[in-house]
Amino acid sequence: MQPFWIAPSILSADLARLGDDVARVLQAGADVVHFDVMDNHYVPNLTFGPMLCSALRNYGITAPIDVHLMVEPVDALIPQFAKAGASIITFHPEASRHVDRSLQLIHEHGCQAGLVFNPATPLSYLDYVLDKVDVVLLMSVNPGFGGQSFIPATLDKLATARQIIDRSGRAIRLEVDGGVKVENIAEIASAGADMFVAGSAIFSQPDYADVIAKMRAELAK
Ligand code: DX5
Ligand code: ZN
Repeated sequence: MQPFWIAPSILSADLARLGDDVARVLQAGADVVHFDVMDNHYVPNLTFGPMLCSALRNYGITAPIDVHLMVEPVDALIPQFAKAGASIITFHPEASRHVDRSLQLIHEHGCQAGLVFNPATPLSYLDYVLDKVDVVLLMSVNPGFGGQSFIPATLDKLATARQIIDRSGRAIRLEVDGGVKVENIAEIASAGADMFVAGSAIFSQPDYADVIAKMRAELAK
């Protein structure tokens, strides 16, 4: 297991003041910026493109940016996000016709690569590409919207993913996304996750440092 990372999802940030809000959440103790890219095609919602990622870099955000691509097709956006300052790029395997090629493309552009698994997507997509994966991201809600409830079956799936990762002997991150909050983060960590996306749980509160400290206290239990 690696040190726990808390990754606020900017989907729930104050979009009219995004630079300030992201700076504020990092100042409050977040480790990574989770950047949700939705295309109104793979998921029924529309969010941000590479220009906004570059704008955050130009604003002075230096923390890792974890780009979660909920788009189909995938490949054209990989070089664009790499150029825009992405650190990690993850995509949904169903959305790429050539999963191995997309993973290679991410590495060729100097980013870490990950696969994202929807609640009903089997982990078998990992079977032949685990050596090319730096992050396994399990969706604990159906992708497309913030503020949904954590799907409990994700806990068993996390435990299975943790075994697969540990068997690989590689330092692969196990990330979880959707419905993560102070009340359930300890249980999610016990199941094997080491990277926690939280949108509404953090940005809905006035004091980000307080929520993040509470999450870390739960993780330390
Ligand atoms: C959902 C997104 C999530 C979302 C999480 O499709 O991938 O990152 O913003 O939001 P919360 O933490 O509110 O469930
Ligand atoms: Zn996400």
